[in-house]
Amino acid sequence: MNILAPSILAADIANLGEEIKTTVKAGAKYLHIDVMDGVFVPRMSFGQCVVESIRKCTDIVFDVHLMIIDPIKCIEDFAKCGADIITVHLEACEDVRATLKKIQECGLKAGLSIKPATPVEDVIPYLDLLDMILIMSVEPGLGGQKYMEAATDRIRQTRKIIKERGLNIDVEVDGGVCKDNLRMILDAGANVIVSGSSIFKGDIEKNTLEFVKILKEAE
Ligand code: DX5
Ligand code: ZN
Repeated sequence: MNILAPSILAADIANLGEEIKTTVKAGAKYLHIDVMDGVFVPRMSFGQCVVESIRKCTDIVFDVHLMIIDPIKCIEDFAKCGADIITVHLEACEDVRATLKKIQECGLKAGLSIKPATPVEDVIPYLDLLDMILIMSVEPGLGGQKYMEAATDRIRQTRKIIKERGLNIDVEVDGGVCKDNLRMILDAGANVIVSGSSIFKGDIEKNTLEFVKILKEAE
């Protein structure tokens, strides 16, 4: 199944609850929540309080993308606050296996993300612990950037690695996804699509409906 995961980094935070409800009603299946620590990436964003607070306004799956150093310390807390999927960065973990195991022990789905310069093969040792692989198609840390063309081939490679082993792992793509490159990204093998500015800037309902239509057509 192809899934849309709007990234609330691009939402109007003063009106967050309403904007979430609009995109959920129009067909978003996950809500992508970018957590930034100002160390792994230059900026800071949301923390546990925001997750806990928006959990009260929707039942949608919370797809929490941790762009933080040493994420193992925060996993239990994010689980308690309402996360359903936690994705950590391979580059940010001291012990990747222990971190992924911790996510699973909390009863959540585990994702592993790689930055544009990290070889796709680096995820292979962890496939047995993964529900999702997140291919970054921009440098993490900022919304509204341009999609890096090299990501398409990286998505293809990732899907091939999964298929060859007969595994059932989602491939998520994050950064610069818009209506114009969406079909190409899906055809390359991604099935969980993050989009921030192309959903929340402008008419949220219309943008979501258009994305969902393309996702369904590609199934
Ligand atoms: C970037 C974040 C993304 C970001 C995507 O580091 O991980 O989730 O919000 O935003 P757009 O779709 O605007 O590139
Ligand atoms: Zn993200």
